[in-house]
Amino acid sequence: MTTIVMTGASRGLGRHAAERMLRDDPDLRLTVIARGEMLEHPRVTTLRGDLSSLRSLRAAAAQITEPVDAYVGNAGLQLTDSRTTTEDGFESTFGVNVVAHLALIQALTFRPAARIVLTGSDSHFGTFRYNMGLIPAPRWLGPAVVAEPNDLGGRGAYSTSKLGLIYLVHELARRMPEVDVYTFNPAFTPGTGLVRTDRIGNWLFRRVFPRIPGVNTPERAGAQLAAVVTGPRPAPSGAYIDRSTVTPSSPASYDEKRERELWAALEANLLPGPSGTR
Ligand SMILES: NC(=O)c1ccc[n+]([C@@H]2O[C@H](COP(=O)([O-])OP(=O)(O)OC[C@H]3O[C@@H](n4cnc5c(N)ncnc54)[C@H](OP(=O)(O)O)[C@@H]3O)[C@@H](O)[C@H]2O)c1
Repeated sequence: MTTIVMTGASRGLGRHAAERMLRDDPDLRLTVIARGEMLEHPRVTTLRGDLSSLRSLRAAAAQITEPVDAYVGNAGLQLTDSRTTTEDGFESTFGVNVVAHLALIQALTFRPAARIVLTGSDSHFGTFRYNMGLIPAPRWLGPAVVAEPNDLGGRGAYSTSKLGLIYLVHELARRMPEVDVYTFNPAFTPGTGLVRTDRIGNWLFRRVFPRIPGVNTPERAGAQLAAVVTGPRPAPSGAYIDRSTVTPSSPASYDEKRERELWAALEANLLPGPSGTR
């Protein structure tokens, strides 16, 4: 029996991924951490958990007592500003897209050869080829700035958070040699709820952009994510998987100094007790 914990399974490409994994493997048991809409299925256990609250996430994770075969960190958001904070005071985009995944990973125990798959974004490249001018390039201003309310703007905070996510994947790959850790990039996948807080952007994303030839679809991206989680081992730990292809992420995303700095900052802010502040 395979046991997988997943976030971001309530809608969008993650919902398709969850349904696909459940369909492909009749022995699969999925524990979904979700704040709102549930995924109804006899082999799904839903735990209430909001990625913008470490307290709520830890309460959800405390109910998962067995070691797991995978954590799929697909939950993510894009906002219209970078001024709001999570319950713990992190800038909301960074708090949900990066910090929450680490908090959950730290709270889970993994079986040997387990996988951690975190959904990144090719917006982290910061070039027109990958963002079509829709999202500013990431600006890595250091963990102290990007994790707190800042001037990056909503979409700038988004691309920056996804660059930070790759740093986290690289650091986790070094620190957790017993599991495989991957970044999954769905590429441009209009039709999901990703930009729902931006009224006009959301209309374009749901109604207009899906008609652009060659864009990914939520269903296809879901199948690609499912394959990274449950298919044959795709690559050495730490790899970046663009839809179904193992490929390098941006040159700036390989930066051991930044990776270690981010880890140190997150660890200092996440761990309970005297060494942590949150
Ligand atoms: N669509 C694209 O073009 C694209 C491109 C590159 C990367 N991605 C990434 O793909 C992933 C899935 O996004 P999507 O496009 O499918 O968007 P989506 O439809 O908005 O799905 C996002 C998922 O994340 C969950 N989530 C967000 N904030 C949460 C919170 N505070 N607590 C709990 N769950 C939360 C949502 O749950 P609720 O239902 O409760 O909101 C939902 O299940 C994200 O990481 C996104 O950054 C998307």
